[in-house]
Amino acid sequence: MNTLIQELQNAQTSQELEAIRLKALGKKGIITQKFSELKSLEGQDKKNFAQEINEVKQKFESLYYLKKTELQTRELENSLQKEKIDVSLFQSQNHRSFGHPINYTKDRIIDYFMHLGYELCIGPLVEDDFHNFSALNLPEYHPARDMQDTFYFKDSMLLRTHTSPVQIRTMQTQTPPIKMICPGPTFRRDYDLTHTPMFHQVEGLVVDNGNKASFANLKYTLEDFLKHIFGDVKVRFRSSFFPFTEPSAEADISCVFCKGKGCRVCSDTGWLEVLGCGVVDEYVFEAVGYQNVSGYAFGMGIERLAMLTCGVNDLRSFFETDLRVLEQF
Ligand code: PHE
Repeated sequence: MNTLIQELQNAQTSQELEAIRLKALGKKGIITQKFSELKSLEGQDKKNFAQEINEVKQKFESLYYLKKTELQTRELENSLQKEKIDVSLFQSQNHRSFGHPINYTKDRIIDYFMHLGYELCIGPLVEDDFHNFSALNLPEYHPARDMQDTFYFKDSMLLRTHTSPVQIRTMQTQTPPIKMICPGPTFRRDYDLTHTPMFHQVEGLVVDNGNKASFANLKYTLEDFLKHIFGDVKVRFRSSFFPFTEPSAEADISCVFCKGKGCRVCSDTGWLEVLGCGVVDEYVFEAVGYQNVSGYAFGMGIERLAMLTCGVNDLRSFFETDLRVLEQF
């Protein structure tokens, strides 16, 4: 009996405890068997023995119930501890990002111009010479037409090298006033830290009757746009050259990394070039059959803007579809 009590006290789990209960009170249990011994006894002996084993049984049972509650409480506490819900764990398992930096940047650019009433236009990726070059005043001897820069197909078709052909197609099918932007992939034979053979541009075009669309309008729009995308930056316009605009300019913003003090990214100039723009050349209007109109156009590389806004220094990481890179955004 004492060993049974000892075992009962030492039980560590409900299963162990149940095994001991069966050992004592089960069909062939030690205490149960004591009761069957009663048959061979008679009179006072039987009475005494019956009383004795009943006491033993009661003692065992009361200790058993005490131990049972103790073990059950302990086990409940353990499982509550183990199954406790960690709300922060749930969050860190669900990686959320704003999507691919290129799409994110493209959407922000589109959003801005669509709020100003610009129409969203798209065009073919495989273009002909007229829309990609001639109509944009890029004559046959222009270096951009070189096989080094452009992907050609056999029949003088090509992969568009910029989104400008969409401007030509829009002017051919609409009459002024026009306010449009055309985002999309473009292709050039280039591959290094800041160039990939396929990249994305967004271009914009505004055309109005008479001389209503001026360089001043262009400057105001782009300054506001760049502040919308980059926040508190300074914007400057530098005169430049594009065959399809005259005058032409490039817009710079004060370096977003060093705030204009000069660093590696801005080559110590304090400025970052972000887009090209200008007043649409008369030659382009002639090519699409427009007369007495004025207009301005601008174009930018989405990858470049995404690199600057997301702080990425190798363009190629945008195309490697490595989730670890994308999850950071
Ligand atoms: N198409 C030019 C480019 O690919 C960008 C640009 C567009 C410049 C419109 C001026 C006006 O570089």
